This record gives sequence, C-alpha cells and structure tokens, in this order.
Amino acid sequence: MTPGRFITFEGIDGAGKSSHIEALAGWLRSRGHTVVMTREPGGTALAERLRELVLHTTMDALCEALLVFAARRDHLVNLIEPALARGTTVLCDRYTDATFAYQGGGRGFDTGVLGQLELWVQQGRQPDLTLWFDLAPATAAARRGAVRAPDRFQSQDEAFFQRVRAGYAARAAADPGRFARLDAEAERETVWQQVQAAVEARPWW
Ligand code: TYD
Repeated sequence: MTPGRFITFEGIDGAGKSSHIEALAGWLRSRGHTVVMTREPGGTALAERLRELVLHTTMDALCEALLVFAARRDHLVNLIEPALARGTTVLCDRYTDATFAYQGGGRGFDTGVLGQLELWVQQGRQPDLTLWFDLAPATAAARRGAVRAPDRFQSQDEAFFQRVRAGYAARAAADPGRFARLDAEAERETVWQQVQAAVEARPWW
C-alpha cells in the first residue's frame, strides 16, 4: 500500500485558503484519490476542545504553544497517521508552521523551544507539501472585514500579522523543498491555478 500524501495549508488570517482546500479535495477525488480534510488546532474530539480554549481563553504564549502541540499530538496519533497509513491523502488547514508563525513570530515565543516540541510531538512527521498563501496583512484585513466575534488571533493588529508573515517566510526559507509560496493577493481563480500547479509539480502522483 502506497502511503497517502500530507498537504498543509498556511497563511495569515484572511488569506483565503479555505475555499481552495475544498476545491483541491474535489480535484484529487476526481482523479481517484481518497482524501480527508481536517484542520488544526482540531480534527479530533479532544483537539477540537483544545481549539476552543486556545481561540477564546486568555493565556500566555507558552500555554498556547503547549495546547496547540497537545492538540496536534492527538490529531496525529488518531487521525493523520492512520489516514496516511491507509493511503489516504490528508489535506490539513494549518499545522506546525502556524505555531512557528503565530506563537513564534506573532507572540515572540522562543522558536528553539518550539523546535524541541516539534521533534517530541511529531517524531519527524512533516507535510509532503505546504501551500503558503502569502499576502500583505493589510489586504488580508480588508478581506476578513468586520468579524462579528473575532477570536484571540483575528483581533490582533497589523503589526502582529506582519510578524506572523515573517515567521512563515523564515520557515519557508528553512525548508524550500517542502513549501510552495502562492501569491494570495491575486484573484481567486489565479490562486487556484497556482494551487493546482504546485500540487501537479510534485513527482509523487
Ligand atoms: P483558522 O482555522 O485558520 O481560523 P478560522 O476558523 O478563522 O478560519 O485558524 C485558527 C487560528 O489558530 C488562526 O488564527 C491561527 C491560530 N493557530 C495558532 O496560533 N497556532 C497554531 O499552531 C495553529 C494550528 C493555529
């Protein structure tokens, strides 16, 4: 059995990745792949409970990092690893790059500690491909518009999202073979073409 592929979607809030996850799932299914869509923090019953806490409860950056990694551990063990072992392609809305970008870049938490947690929790499991929807924080803020009840991240200012973006850029520079940077300033159809091109360019289909 060929193991499934693990594809993650990253970018600042308002980058517009959600509709492309759905579209890519449909596109891969039409080519005969079995696909599961999931998200972080979340994806399992426990991880979804942790997500509620992380998004809506005041806590410091270490607590935030520990909770997102705890959620990730449960998600990996109970959903991601079994799916990949069955040959299912996993499309995941955010993964560890988000922790480096948000807790590391945005909150300024020690990325050395995040690296230790990453090793410990993931035991080497990294995405096969990470689609990074990159755009200016001002554009993303305009797209987000007025969210009625913003969570603890959506309510952050532009400077925070500048740091998050820089966090993503650093992760992409450290692992250029895994990342595909997409110009998310472009129109949706153009972004979708970039998604397809990045996925098709992989040698493993
Ligand atoms: P997301 O699902 O993209 O938000 P939405 O439901 O608004 O589309 O992501 C939830 C938030 O969690 C997002 O603002 C980023 C944050 N986050 C972290 O801070 N660290 C992490 O490790 C992850 C996975 C997400």
